[in-house]
Amino acid sequence: MEIKKIGVLGAGAMGTGIATVSAQAGFDVIISDVDLSIVQKSVGRMSSFFDKSVEKGKMTGEQKEAIMGRVEPQSGVDGFGDVDLVIEAIFEDLQVKKDNFTKLDQVCKPEALLTSNTSSFSITQLAATTKRPDRFAGMHFFNPPPIMKLVEVIRGYGTSDETVKVVSEVAVKMGKKPIEIKKDSPGFVVNRILLAQFIEAIKLYEEGVASLEDIDVAVKLGLNYPMGPFELQDFAGVDIGFHVTNYFCDEFKDIRWNPPLALKQLIRAGRLGRKTGAGWFNY
Ligand code: NAI
Repeated sequence: MEIKKIGVLGAGAMGTGIATVSAQAGFDVIISDVDLSIVQKSVGRMSSFFDKSVEKGKMTGEQKEAIMGRVEPQSGVDGFGDVDLVIEAIFEDLQVKKDNFTKLDQVCKPEALLTSNTSSFSITQLAATTKRPDRFAGMHFFNPPPIMKLVEVIRGYGTSDETVKVVSEVAVKMGKKPIEIKKDSPGFVVNRILLAQFIEAIKLYEEGVASLEDIDVAVKLGLNYPMGPFELQDFAGVDIGFHVTNYFCDEFKDIRWNPPLALKQLIRAGRLGRKTGAGWFNY
């Protein structure tokens, strides 16, 4: 099956980035959210991203206009009838995602593929809300999608080989490196490793072993990571990591995934990272 048109649902940080790489790769793109004003801001961010590429001489103004001409802002999912592939990137709430996939299944043409950019939820469970579990997969990008090369392509219980193949090919066309997640396991590969590291970093801080700043420095210089665990949580959104640890607790029934108190306190204080002006650090 050839993918020509992609529908991105959710015009936040990830949806905007995914729509950006999709349009740049030559796909026609619908970008949608609950409200058109959110989508217009997202389209503005995409346009500024490409303006920088023009300024740096990486593309011409005409090329930028051609890319932006492929982007269609919408609200809701009613206009998704002609897309070949949906990439869902709405916030990490299981019920909201399920409700949207039930709607998408009704609106999208039967051969269209549905994918979710969820950081943690079961692809099998999301697919079960539709009548097309064979044409359903996880398509997990990393933040920010225009820069991060990896895409985890996740097999749900019923995902067909053809779906894995087509979704992986789309990722390659976007300039990404897809890896196949053969089992629909919580957090897939990257977040399972990442969350264990976040929890250990927070415990080190709580135990007074080192300061937030020094733990970040240690991880950057000692492990050669581009960002420390606290800087990275603030960048990605502290609430996302919090939701994922809670989900791992439920799924694995293992207390080592319990969100540490310092993390709970940040959430209760509304310090969700850079997007709220404060998280582990003040901005
Ligand atoms: P975000 O909070 O920046 O954006 C979420 C967007 O979803 C918002 O614009 C919101 O208005 C929209 N939305 C909520 N309900 C909706 C609905 N019913 N219909 C349409 N739009 C709706 O969140 P972000 O960071 O972009 O995350 C989105 C998804 O991507 C989540 O599932 C998250 O777990 C996943 N993800 C996030 C990463 C990150 O580093 N931020 C990395 C990889 C995946």
